Amino acid sequence: MIVVETVVELRRRIRALRGLGKRIAFVPTMGNLHAGHLYLMQKAREYAEVVVASIYVNPLQFGENEDFDIYPRTPREDHAALEAEGVDLLFTPTDAEIYPRGREAQTRVEVPGLNNILCGAFRPGHFRGVATVVNRLFNLVNPDVAVFGKKDYQQLLVIRLMVADLGMPVEIVGAETVREPDGLAMSSRNHYLSAEERKIAPRLYATLCALRDQIAKHRKILPDLENKTLQDLEAAGFRPEYVSIRRQQDLEVPQQQDHRLVILAAAWLGRTRLIDNVELEIH
Ligand code: PAJ
Repeated sequence: MIVVETVVELRRRIRALRGLGKRIAFVPTMGNLHAGHLYLMQKAREYAEVVVASIYVNPLQFGENEDFDIYPRTPREDHAALEAEGVDLLFTPTDAEIYPRGREAQTRVEVPGLNNILCGAFRPGHFRGVATVVNRLFNLVNPDVAVFGKKDYQQLLVIRLMVADLGMPVEIVGAETVREPDGLAMSSRNHYLSAEERKIAPRLYATLCALRDQIAKHRKILPDLENKTLQDLEAAGFRPEYVSIRRQQDLEVPQQQDHRLVILAAAWLGRTRLIDNVELEIH
């Protein structure tokens, strides 16, 4: 695995690979890699001969009072895991490489419809930060394909719509969420959970699955289902931000004719913010 830290070196390597006619798949991450991230690397390999990963904890997508400072950084373990996974090229830029004129001066990218709903309503500026850094990474890596996890469902859609709106020549692949044996979606933030909280955490997924089964049984969305699920989460010990049933393609509130749905939720457990979602189809 080749590791590059500068834009100049990255471009040189990418140019050489392109010269050989190689297809490139790209997986951006913030590091502290777990099996969910490594699954994206394997997916990427299905789409291209060359797999490029990046590790960059992007300050622009963290709010003032969020966990940027304590976000787990484990570069040595990450490098070993990516090497073992057969990743070809790893980009680990500094802030100066990503935001050369400073992060405040950086040109921003915003996807209006998705920016301020669901997680965006509770994390102002978050998706602007994500779209801005992914746009820059795409321009530097110039991939044919990029792989994102469905774990961050709204993020995946932000990227899909950004790519469509800006006419970017990259195919976006969504990969299924990788879970712990008890159902908890893998996340770098799971490290923040206490032993007691870790026992409660799988209830988030279980509660969303129960809601999914209710909707499937009645073949429609009965009123008050979301509120009832919020109460279930509170009873289990969470402080939920939202539970919402949306349509898959744009996360708008579903209309009568919408069949492909997704239930999304965010909830706090102590000082840890967890998100999860489940897809469903009703006919
Ligand atoms: P990060 O949280 O490190 O996640 C990197 C990628 O791994 C994202 O596409 C995310 O959806 C995916 N992922 C995380 N946990 C997963 C799981 N349990 N199963 C499947 N995929 C999972 O998401 C980011 O970083 C950043 O916002 C980034 C896109 C890198 C921009 O800074």
